[in-house]
Amino acid sequence: MSIEKIGVLGAGVMGGGIAQVCATAGYEVVVYDIDPAALTAGHEHATTGRFGLDSGVERGKLTREEADAAAARLVFTESFADAAATDLVVEAVPERLDLKIRVFRDLDAAAPEHTILCSNSSGFPIQAIGAATNRPELVCGWHWASPAPVMKLAEIVRTRATSDATVETVREVAARCGKHPVVVQDTAMAWGYVANRVYFAMIAEAQKVVNEGIATADEVDQLMMDCYRWPSGPFGMVKGAGSGWS
Ligand SMILES: NC(=O)c1ccc[n+]([C@@H]2O[C@H](COP(=O)([O-])OP(=O)(O)OC[C@H]3O[C@@H](n4cnc5c(N)ncnc54)[C@H](O)[C@@H]3O)[C@@H](O)[C@H]2O)c1
Repeated sequence: MSIEKIGVLGAGVMGGGIAQVCATAGYEVVVYDIDPAALTAGHEHATTGRFGLDSGVERGKLTREEADAAAARLVFTESFADAAATDLVVEAVPERLDLKIRVFRDLDAAAPEHTILCSNSSGFPIQAIGAATNRPELVCGWHWASPAPVMKLAEIVRTRATSDATVETVREVAARCGKHPVVVQDTAMAWGYVANRVYFAMIAEAQKVVNEGIATADEVDQLMMDCYRWPSGPFGMVKGAGSGWS
């Protein structure tokens, strides 16, 4: 299916960056948030923020003309209907299953029949979200990492109901966005798909080390960076993810 217009729901830490990346890749992007202040902040992050379009020009990632063209493709709106009237929607509202289910039910009612609905959930079963719609074959997870303009993660989560065509389309869009798509299976047995299951196992062990008085959080971070060449230690990653590394 040809994707030209992408909707993004939620203009927070993730949504603004996701919208920026999609616009940079050449898609028309419509971002909706229930909070007008979040729309303003999301637009600022995408344009003048630490990883925004202007900084992309400064860092030599894109030309001024490319950044201006991407900015012109970005619309931040208080109209849910406008964000739903697109070819593919990426939902990035807070990590609450009841909220995501409600948002997908509303999206299903408002979006055209062909629209693919993706969730950037960090780990909820996509089958539970897809079941809120009458189009589970067009629903999958598309899990991004923060900051979205920098990180290559595209964990595409397919349920038993997700069609091959949906998976292929999202994979193609993610690749055009400069990401490294990897398709994984959905499960209702554990939160976190692959990346976050492994990450949280590591965080749990790091916290155990601190609780046992073996090392401080800062020392654990330093050891893990020095041992594995990670850009940040486990505790630094938790802080960075919450703030968008701003
Ligand atoms: N922060 C990260 O590092 C990270 C990484 C990967 C995935 N995620 C996932 O992305 C999603 C969003 O996380 P975030 O960190 O951007 O959260 P956030 O709180 O920064 O942003 C969420 C935004 O959604 C808006 N919102 C709330 N209800 C809404 C609704 N009904 N319709 C439209 N907008 C609504 C809020 O006003 C807010 O601006 C979560 O599912 C989270 O688990 C986060």
